[in-house]
Amino acid sequence: MAELIVALDVPSRAEAEARVKLLGDAVDFYKIGLELFTAEGPDVVKAVKGFGKKVFLDLKFHDIPNTAAQAVRSGGRLGVDLMTIHSVGGRRMIAAAAEAAAEFGESGPRILAVTVLTSLDQTDLADIGVPDRSPAEQVAALARFAVDNGAHGLVCSAFDVGGLSPTLPAGTLFVTPGVRPAGSAVGDQKRIATPAVAVAGGATHLVVGRPILAAQDPVAAARAIRAEMATA
Ligand code: C5P
Repeated sequence: MAELIVALDVPSRAEAEARVKLLGDAVDFYKIGLELFTAEGPDVVKAVKGFGKKVFLDLKFHDIPNTAAQAVRSGGRLGVDLMTIHSVGGRRMIAAAAEAAAEFGESGPRILAVTVLTSLDQTDLADIGVPDRSPAEQVAALARFAVDNGAHGLVCSAFDVGGLSPTLPAGTLFVTPGVRPAGSAVGDQKRIATPAVAVAGGATHLVVGRPILAAQDPVAAARAIRAEMATA
């Protein structure tokens, strides 16, 4: 069954804790990203874990293998459940991150690879030395590369999951942002999918921020999304 992850896109630990308290048992899993982590550090991870919640620490590591592995170990010691790395860090960095995660056993972090940031288009790829592949081709190539070298899953758009999942081993995690329940504000997202479509396409985890955090009734919004996911 696919899991809902709420993006804690807030600037402070106090606001993060208020959201986690408010959502209560409607949400079991939270994403902590660069904004909140840079402001509050590991204490905010400990706080969210202290509520008995799972944590997706989305810091997108891209460094030499030893540094990436040590950062994964730090996440493992915090009890983090999912972490991100950049596929373009290379095969040794991906493998080192996966091996560091494995030291924590079954309950340790799962490593998700970022392929091509959705903010990049064809011109951006050419700028960084990838002139011959479309973003979609680069996503497919890097997804395969990351999983072959030990990544447990991928962060990708709901539209990419259907194409990627048949080409990758069973059990690969597909974590998809850009999810919008029918009728909710799109905001700055471009290619959006409903929760049901994302799950039907093969997503294992949906990352949802504003449709829940900015809802008039966040608990009802979270419950509605989970109900929709369950029917997919
Ligand atoms: O508020 P919203 O539901 O758009 O939040 C989506 C979350 O997923 C944000 O934290 C955003 O940074 C993240 N994300 C995304 N698109 C990507 C990668 C991450 O929206 N391609």
